[in-house]
Amino acid sequence: MSAHVDMQIATSLLPRSGRITSTTDVAVVIDVLRATSVMATALAAGAAKIVTCREVAEAIELARRLSPPVLLCGERGCQSIEGFDLGNSPAEYVGSRVAGKRLVLTTTNGTRAIEAAADAASMITASFLNLSAVLESLAGIETVHLVCAGTEGEITSEDVLLAGAIVSECETRYGAVLQDDDSILARQLWQSWLEKPGVSLDERIADPPKLALRLRETRGGRNLVRLGYEQDLERCAAVDSIQAVPVRNSRSPTSFVLQAI
Ligand code: MLT
Repeated sequence: MSAHVDMQIATSLLPRSGRITSTTDVAVVIDVLRATSVMATALAAGAAKIVTCREVAEAIELARRLSPPVLLCGERGCQSIEGFDLGNSPAEYVGSRVAGKRLVLTTTNGTRAIEAAADAASMITASFLNLSAVLESLAGIETVHLVCAGTEGEITSEDVLLAGAIVSECETRYGAVLQDDDSILARQLWQSWLEKPGVSLDERIADPPKLALRLRETRGGRNLVRLGYEQDLERCAAVDSIQAVPVRNSRSPTSFVLQAI
C-alpha cells in the first residue's frame, strides 16, 4: 500500500537558474501579461503546437527547419517583431490564423522563464485564463515549482498574484506544504487582494473586470497600457475561459501541446 504524500510547493518570484532540478515533478511557468495567456489562447484556438525559444534569430532558424505550416510569433519590448507573422496579443490568436499550424514563439521574459525551468520532469504553463484547469492538472503531484517570469529581471505582481492563487488553492485542495518564503509572499499577495477572505475561488474570480483593474496597477499592466494594449488586460483576466493546459511534449526544441482537462 503506498503512503499518501502531501504536495510540496515552491515558488520563484523570478526565474533563477539552478533552483529547478529533475526532482521537481511539475514546473508551472507563469507570464500573465502576456506570454502564457497567449500560449493557452493559441492552443485553445487550434494551433497544433507551440515551439518556444529565447532568441529572435533562434526562432527564425527553427521556423525555417520545421515543416510548414509554421507561424513566427512573439515580441520584444511588448511590440511585434519585424518580419514575424503574429505579435504577443491574445486577440491575434484566433482559429482563422492559427488552427492546424505550428507556432514558433519567442518573448522577452516568458520564454526565458520556460528555459530556466527546463530541468523539471514535466512542465505546464499557467494563466488566469486556465486557472481551474491548471489546478486540476496538479492533483496528485508531489513536487510543484511555480516560476514567475517577471519583466526584465524585476518582479511583476500580476505573475505573483497568479502564483498566490495557485499556492493558496493547492494548500486548500491538496494539503500542499509551502517550501519557501516566495510561496508565502505570493499567497499573501493573493489573499490581501481578496475582499472577502474565506470565500470560494469561484466567488473570488467571478469578476474579471475587477481583476483587469488590478492588473492595470502592475508593472506589466502599466507597460501594456502605455503601449496601447489596454484591452489585453481584460483579455488576460478572463478567468477560466479555457479548460485546458499547455503541456511540454518535447525538450529539444521545447514545445507545448494542449492537454484537455
Ligand atoms: C514577455 O514574455 O516578456 C511578455 O509576454 C511581454 C508582453 O506582454 O508582450
